[in-house]
Formats: sequence, structure tokens, C-alpha cells
Amino acid sequence: MRSSALIGTGSYLPDKILTNFDLEKMVDTSNEWILKMTGISERRIADEKMATSDLGIRAARRAIKSADIDPLEIDMIIVSTATPDSAFPSTACSVQNGIGAKKASSFDLSAACSGFVYGLDLADGMIKSSRYDTILVIGAEIFSRIVNWEDRSTCVLFGDAAGAAIIQVSEEPGILASYCGADGAYADANLLGIPAGGSRIPANAATIDQKLHTVKMRGQEVFKLAVRIMPEAAQKTLDAAGVSIDQIDLVIPHQANSRIIEAVIDRIGIDPEKMYVNVNQYGNTSAASVIVALDEAISEGQAKVGDLILLTVFGAGLTWGSALIRL
Ligand code: ACO
Repeated sequence: MRSSALIGTGSYLPDKILTNFDLEKMVDTSNEWILKMTGISERRIADEKMATSDLGIRAARRAIKSADIDPLEIDMIIVSTATPDSAFPSTACSVQNGIGAKKASSFDLSAACSGFVYGLDLADGMIKSSRYDTILVIGAEIFSRIVNWEDRSTCVLFGDAAGAAIIQVSEEPGILASYCGADGAYADANLLGIPAGGSRIPANAATIDQKLHTVKMRGQEVFKLAVRIMPEAAQKTLDAAGVSIDQIDLVIPHQANSRIIEAVIDRIGIDPEKMYVNVNQYGNTSAASVIVALDEAISEGQAKVGDLILLTVFGAGLTWGSALIRL
């Protein structure tokens, strides 16, 4: 049986910082409320000239450098995003052109905030199938373009970012187990999603007036689902790998809200010191969240070669997933 391993990571965070104090001037909110309810202090906002592929290209170049490969070795590019450059062509094709990976099949993957783990799971399976050897998985988002900046219940939560990983066939197993799930009974754009601008409700003047092209969320319902789903997803992967939570060196959960992360710590019984949290600096960056955190943990020395890393995520759909990685 072939194995795959993660051989390089990279990330890109836009320079522009939007703090809670900046938001106080835009909507009826306060730094105290946002910090207490979400743990977020600031988030990054992409330059208006940039699209999601521009963020993805920057993250991908860093991952390629850290993996020390030639872009022509890449035979598949998966861009997980809820904020593609456009409905089509895919954001992945623009990334392919931007990094010169001319031999790579390229497509976008839609699983909202779970997108990176879905991409990793898919890449692992594709490598194990022997059809592909080297796959670039990107999570990239510009949520600042799809939030309603007049809606205090959502605009304070999200940020822009991209993260990338190179997954390659390997003699030593690196992706030890992964798991993805979904429950389409929750595929309600008003629970978590964007109601208009697709085939169900095409764009027109009325949908624009009603801001139906922006993120809608029933926060409390999403919160309750997240604190149940992320620990369950994590446990499935641990069970599949025959590994106990005590053996894990670092857990990287989807960075949506520090209160959700605290609940996950309690439910999976991990030492809080082993939980990686950067939601304070970047907010919820959706599909970019866990790969940006992993790349940051590696560059800070919190995730080292040989460590066992557990990713666990949830997102709109509903979707969820987890992955166990030996670095
Ligand atoms: N500033 C001040 N007050 C606010 C703000 C704000 N930014 N937002 C909401 N409020 C108010 C509400 O209006 C409400 O006021 P009221 O009591 O006078 O009506 C009060 O705060 C409580 O609002 P709730 O929405 O009930 O607050 P809740 O405890 O649910 O916390 C929060 C809100 C932080 C958004 C929480 O629900 C949450 O984190 N949910 C999960 C969000 C999440 O993880 N989303 C992931 C998306 S994943 C993906 O796929 C994109």
C-alpha cells in the first residue's frame, strides 16, 4: 500500500489589519463583546486588487519552497474555497498558471470551512490510488468580500488568508488517517451560507438590495453543532489510526471561535497547552484556517518533525472532518 506525507507548507496573510476598535466605528459593537464572545481581536483584509487565487498563489509558492520541489512535479491542484475568484473558471486554474504548474489537473473544492481537510483526505486517496504522486492542496478565502459589513452578528467573525500544503507519495506514512462527513439536512443557506447569486436565487436588483449575496448565519445553532461535531470527528480519526488523545503532540481545530475551541478541549480531554489557537489574530478564515495554523505552528517550532498532529474541522453544509498527520 502506498503512503502519502505532507512535505511542505506555506501561508499568506494580507498586511492590512482590521481591529475590533476599527469595527466599533463601523457597526454597533465593542471590543469587549467580540473578545468575550469569540476570542477575536483582529483579522486580516485582502487588498482590493487581489482575488482569492492571488492569496493562494503566494501561499503555494511558500509551500513549494519549503517542500523544495519544482512546480512541474505537481500533478494535481485542489483549491478549497467558499470565495472563488468567480463561479468558473476555477480559482485552481488561476493558481496553476500563477505558479507555473503546467502539468497539474486543477479544480476547486467546496466544503466551506472543512475544505482543507476534505482536500487533504482526497489528496491522500489519490496518491494511494497510484494515479498521482504530488498534490498541492490550498485553503484560500477572502471572506471580507462576502460579509455584510452592516451586520454586526457576522462581520466581526471572519478574515482573509491562504494556506497551502504539498502532499507527496512517501515510504514513511505521513497522513496516518483522515475522515470526512456531511449532513445535507443542514444545507440551509440561512443557517450558514449565502442565499443568492447561485442557480437557486440568481442575482437581481432585489437580491442585491436585500443583501442576499452576503453571509447569513444562525450563530447559536451553528455553535451547538460545532461543539458536538468537532470532537466526534477527531475521535473517529483517532480510532481509525488506533491512537489515543494522550499520544497527540498538537491539536489544530478550525479557528472559528475560542469558546468553541474551549468546549472541544473539554470534550476530547486534551491538555490546553497542546491546542493550537490563533483565532485571536486572524478570526475565522474558513478553508484557510487549519492550514494557516499548521504552517504557523511549524514556523514557530510548536510542530516539529516526527510530531503527531490532529486536525479537526466543521463548516457549512454541514461538513466536518479530521486528519492525523505525522510530520
Ligand atoms: N456586538 C455586540 N452585540 C452583538 C454582536 C456584536 N458583534 N453580535 C450579536 N450581538 C448581540 C445580539 O444582537 C444579541 O442581542 P440581544 O440579546 O439584544 O438580541 C446578543 O448579542 C446575543 O446574540 P446571539 O447571536 O444570541 O449571541 P451568541 O451567544 O450566539 O454569540 C456568536 C454569537 C459569537 C456569533 C456565536 O453564536 C458563535 O460563535 N456561533 C458560531 C459561529 C461560527 O462558528 N461560525 C462558523 C462558520 S463556519 C463556516 O463554514 C463559514
